[in-house]
Amino acid sequence: MKRTPSTRRRRSSRPAQGKPARRDPRPIGIFDSGVGGLTVLRAIGRRLPGESLVYFGDTAHLPYGNKSPEAVTRFSVEVARFLKGRDIKVLVVACNTASALALPRLKRGLGVPVLGVIEPGARAAARATTRRRVGIIATEATVASGAYQRALKGLLPGVRSFGKACPLFVPLVEEGWWAHPVTRAVAREYLEPLQRAGVDTLILGCTHYPLLKASLARVLGPGVRLIDSAEETAREVEALLEREGLGSGRRRGWRRFFASDGPDRFLRLAKRLLGVSIKTVAIWRFD
Ligand code: DGL
Repeated sequence: MKRTPSTRRRRSSRPAQGKPARRDPRPIGIFDSGVGGLTVLRAIGRRLPGESLVYFGDTAHLPYGNKSPEAVTRFSVEVARFLKGRDIKVLVVACNTASALALPRLKRGLGVPVLGVIEPGARAAARATTRRRVGIIATEATVASGAYQRALKGLLPGVRSFGKACPLFVPLVEEGWWAHPVTRAVAREYLEPLQRAGVDTLILGCTHYPLLKASLARVLGPGVRLIDSAEETAREVEALLEREGLGSGRRRGWRRFFASDGPDRFLRLAKRLLGVSIKTVAIWRFD
């Protein structure tokens, strides 16, 4: 058959690996225990403005950070099923606690790629550390799970990791006290053992902590690199869409928000955390 110029053009638009260039307009699902995961939504939205995003904040079960692995896994599976029902193409588990405790279970049988925040954060820390001494601040459940510690060990032989649960940070962020003297005093107390351990890199292993970056940097000084897992996760979502040919091919995506309780508080906190108003949040109650 004689090849026409138009078939030649079509062929050359294929990616190098020989996979056909696909477009997938379905939304990305993002899930957190509450509003904190909006830091991940914001990072993904900035990097991939053409992607549509469906967010679920499980505010009825918040906080996950002091609950058992069984409870966190049960809640996470319910939320993942709900989002799957909204026809998502990828699930991003923005919640560090859910990523630490429920990721293997979520990856089993959902039928779409599932990405957590632990691996991206650990990978960035492994690249950043110069003395192989990495601090991890997170909820009690995330630190106790050892998930960041294991991920780091797998990536960087000989790394020493130092975990510290910082439960007071979540309410301080939700109060809007990001640069408050009280927050700095609490940070000094929490970070002191990590400073004593000589960490040169610190993973902000909780959805809320990126908002404390300036305060934490002030306490730690310039010698410690702060790793924002929200940013790193957004980078990995972009890479995944490229690799799998799942990009929307659009210029602007849409956003929808769901929560399992307390719409007024969700909207108030979302405005405080994101600095922009979300018009509506739909409530979805699990039985
Ligand atoms: N989203 C949780 C996390 O990143 C923090 C809030 C909670 O404890 O549920 O671990």
